[in-house]
Amino acid sequence: MPLKRQSAIPLYRQIQDYIAEKIKNGEWASGAKLPSQRALASFFHVNRSTIITALESLAAQGLIEGRHGGGTRVINSTWSLMAQKKATDWGTYVEAGRYKPNLPMIQKINLAEFNPRVIRMGTGELSPELLPSEKFTELVKALSPNLLSLGYQEPKGALHLREALSRHLKTDGINASPSSILVVSGALQALQLISSGLLDRGSSLLLAKPSYLYSVHVFQSLGMRFIGLPSDHEGLQPERLAACKRKYHGVILYTIPSFDNPTGALMPEKRRQQLLSVCQQEQLPIIEDDVYRELWLDAPPPPSLKSMDHSGNVLYVGSMSKVLSAGLRIGWIVGPEAVIERLADIKMQSDYGSSSLAQLAAAECLRTGLYQEHAAFVRKQLRMRRNHLVDLLHTYFADLGQWQIPSGGFYIWLELLPAIDPKLLFEAALRHDVLINPGVLYDRSARRYLRLSYAYASLQEMEQAMQRLRNIVVELAN
Ligand SMILES: Cc1ncc(COP(=O)(O)O)c(C=O)c1O
Repeated sequence: MPLKRQSAIPLYRQIQDYIAEKIKNGEWASGAKLPSQRALASFFHVNRSTIITALESLAAQGLIEGRHGGGTRVINSTWSLMAQKKATDWGTYVEAGRYKPNLPMIQKINLAEFNPRVIRMGTGELSPELLPSEKFTELVKALSPNLLSLGYQEPKGALHLREALSRHLKTDGINASPSSILVVSGALQALQLISSGLLDRGSSLLLAKPSYLYSVHVFQSLGMRFIGLPSDHEGLQPERLAACKRKYHGVILYTIPSFDNPTGALMPEKRRQQLLSVCQQEQLPIIEDDVYRELWLDAPPPPSLKSMDHSGNVLYVGSMSKVLSAGLRIGWIVGPEAVIERLADIKMQSDYGSSSLAQLAAAECLRTGLYQEHAAFVRKQLRMRRNHLVDLLHTYFADLGQWQIPSGGFYIWLELLPAIDPKLLFEAALRHDVLINPGVLYDRSARRYLRLSYAYASLQEMEQAMQRLRNIVVELAN
């Protein structure tokens, strides 16, 4: 919140009034924990002493209370004081929900990403410079009013979008008629629907270690177990799949064969065939997460598992987030019709379908060729950015780390040679306005790794960030 620095009202009073207002409105209800003093100081851009003065004053008014070791909590609201009623303690409800909270580091990342001073070196999102803002605006302006429906859509999503997706998937060798495609609000929703629609508590998900999936709680929140499998520069190793299928209950495999998140690994065709053949033999279903497929930088990736699958073993997940717009929230699942119908039914129960406007815009992007044209532009830009980050690594990290050069996607999986506590490194980098994604978010034992992204920061920012990171690593290593 911007404070009025020229105002005659002292800063601590402005902060005090801001917090008091939140409490009075019930936004920070009785029992709610206030952000830490450090977080408040960084939010308001003031010294900690200013925050302490504001908090002391709120405590004197009986609105908040500091608890030893438990932070500061709201103890009452003026409304409930006036009404002489005890307010609901939402805290117990907040803790009771079935969904696990995000890891604290992820929560911090999610907030810090919106701090304009911060250089985002870990982010899995395209830089605003790489988004087709002008062309997209033109396209939306020209949308045909005849196609725009402001009502609910069919359970599987707008037909014209599924038809456009069906044609698009065909160019990647996937034969999927519109009836076996479900439109979803991003690939993350695809994973959510699969976890709630196809798997029961106690089932097991086989996945590479590290994996993107460790950083979100879609499956764990519903009581699923993760079985981490070894992976190398060619991605997931298929050797243990058969034994795992036999050993565990309700098993499904999750894999990102093209430009893995976080390692950037690309699975070669031979391993894809091996994987598919073991899974077919063992009747082990596969979730193929292919959201980075179109972002190849050196050569197109080998065929997707789905395009080689003739027995309906693969649920294929795609998205527009990494190529066109993450905010559009449009993704898709391709699979056997019975599965798609089940997932569509659950989607109807949860949100009655993705936004009609977003679906129409997405279909137009595919129909007019904007999507394909923009994918080529993004590939070119990412190629330059990847090369730049690799050069920076040679300049600043040649003696401090090792890495493989990814042939697509957003990420370089940097292994640091000195052993540094990942939390300390993360905090120190953030104090220097550099946001990184430590490897532990993707595998608890990957303590030496960082997922660096060349998709978001500008070339100049990348240089500043890598310079600062080098200094921090050297300092913490000594
Ligand atoms: C591998 C992978 N799958 C799924 C997602 C979620 O993407 P979406 O924005 O389509 O929900 C991401 C985003 O980072 C990802 O990296």
